[in-house]
Amino acid sequence: MKKGGVSSEFLDILRSKSDIIDVASKYITLNRRGSNFWACCPFHMEKTPSFSIKQDGQFFKCFGCGESGNVITFVMKMENVDFMTAVEILAKNAGLELPSDQDNEEMKKKKLERDKCYQILRKTTEFYHENLLNNPNSPQAQYLKSRGLNQQSIEKFKIGASLDYDALPKHLLKAGFKIEDMITAGVVGRGDKGEIYDFYGNRLMFPISNGFGDVVAFSGRSVEANPTRTKYKNTPQSPIFNKSDILFGYHFVRDLKKEHMLDTIIIVEGHLDVITCHQYGIDNTIGCMGTALTTLHANKIKRLVDNVILCLDGDSAGASATYKAIDILREVGLNVKVVRLKDAKDPDEYLKKFGKDNFLECLTNAVDCVDFILHDRASKYDLTTNSSRNSYIQEALDYISKFSTPAEQEIYLAVVQKLTHVSMDALKRSIKNNNEIKIVDKETLAEPVQNNYIIESKIMLLSSILYKKITNFDEIKGLFVSRDELSELYEFLVSKIKEEKDYNVSTLFDNFEITPNSLIDRVINYKFPSDEVFETFLTETIKRVKLTELQDERDKLKEKLMSSNDDNEKYSILARMKEITDLINKEKK
Ligand code: CTP
Ligand code: MN
Repeated sequence: MKKGGVSSEFLDILRSKSDIIDVASKYITLNRRGSNFWACCPFHMEKTPSFSIKQDGQFFKCFGCGESGNVITFVMKMENVDFMTAVEILAKNAGLELPSDQDNEEMKKKKLERDKCYQILRKTTEFYHENLLNNPNSPQAQYLKSRGLNQQSIEKFKIGASLDYDALPKHLLKAGFKIEDMITAGVVGRGDKGEIYDFYGNRLMFPISNGFGDVVAFSGRSVEANPTRTKYKNTPQSPIFNKSDILFGYHFVRDLKKEHMLDTIIIVEGHLDVITCHQYGIDNTIGCMGTALTTLHANKIKRLVDNVILCLDGDSAGASATYKAIDILREVGLNVKVVRLKDAKDPDEYLKKFGKDNFLECLTNAVDCVDFILHDRASKYDLTTNSSRNSYIQEALDYISKFSTPAEQEIYLAVVQKLTHVSMDALKRSIKNNNEIKIVDKETLAEPVQNNYIIESKIMLLSSILYKKITNFDEIKGLFVSRDELSELYEFLVSKIKEEKDYNVSTLFDNFEITPNSLIDRVINYKFPSDEVFETFLTETIKRVKLTELQDERDKLKEKLMSSNDDNEKYSILARMKEITDLINKEKK
């Protein structure tokens, strides 16, 4: 069986060399309790740990959000990557070579295409960078100077210059790259008449890297005094670039993390903001490149730190971006603080105007995001009139009850109390109503749990094969003939046993789509009764399932018998019913 181009044999080796505890502890702090390890779930926001990893089974399960998986799915979720990329990451970690001959054609083609893109971007980055260094009088170099960027920053960020429209395509052709590949990589464009040109002609070039430091895209800034073109031209979506999961400067903060020098990440908007912050030694700064933050971005950040400071532009666009960013960042469990700069449009201008110490003071005085929202919203109301004050309180309480734990609610209510002078008691009573409404909402949304005896029993039996290694699986074969995923699981487990293959729970995650509360998820997480009664429980269950199925079949035959007009058919139905009755009597003995 193959998945995503690698054989199950390779996956077995990979998993045996990638202990889930080792891998997970690179991302989260684990605590051992009994035979399991526990942590706060990295996939949803929580304050008390409900995320558990079983070392013997090599899988994780979060009892809060229901997510589960093996070491490969863990890496997929943590790194936001597809199956093959997770396999690549783990293989690299374990010092294993990927069996390339096992890649299927489609995968091979995609990998080649991606490799070509990386090569082209690397070559292009060097080319632009050399241009800049060799042409200190170019408008691009002059512009950088006017913005106060030093040589060190130019080197660190590999800043470059496109000086015209033809040099780059010529250079890449000479280096042996195909025009189609240059276009795919997003560095060359093709005009109406088929002519090709440097996509970023005449711009100052900022390379954008992925988490590993490979350049995946560019932002080209115009440097004209009175720009007639858009300020920035960015690489469109490409096989290696998806702007909703790339953050400018992320690979640098990732390196800080490796050196254990990272506690908080500062998020700013522009490239120049990031570069200037780094130049001033504030190198835990990344940029969202003017786009709205996505959950992918937020998860990437959460993998490195628990704390972020949002320091977006001072204008009203920056303010509304701050609101949106807070929601996204809090959602993944980050502690979010906010800085709103005064007397400067962005961190770049602030640093140059007021210096490092003042900027650091702004960061130290960053306010908790809910605090920020409560104050900012209050400034939109006239709190001296009753009706306006009530509207504000309603808005504030809605926000607080939606986003905070009971302990946090106390703190935030105190802020509202201070702003409105309404008594704490009254505020607490109102928020209690809000909280209750929320609980009802949740309950009505909950999916009905299947409570079918047969299904429950099948789950129990499969779990017994999986964990208790029971050997009488042939006896229950008849229960797993329908075309559903439990039967598929039965077939899978039995084939592994018959091949005398070593298997454990983690193998399942490579072969089945396992979503929270799905049938297979329930098999994996089945809670057995105590060992003393297990044997009896097992035989009783098998017996009862068989009986129930036989009785079901007999009921169906009865209906068929009533509606049938064909004597031959009636005869065979009756014969089968007799057989069933005998079987039932035998089982009952
Ligand atoms: N941006 C963009 N396209 C534009 C404008 C902005 O992609 N037309 C993105 C860029 O990533 C830019 C960020 O939004 O870095 C912030 O925009 P802005 O503040 O206008 O640019 P800065 O890089 O900060 O440049 P400056 O300091 O000169 O304003
Ligand atoms: Mn800016």
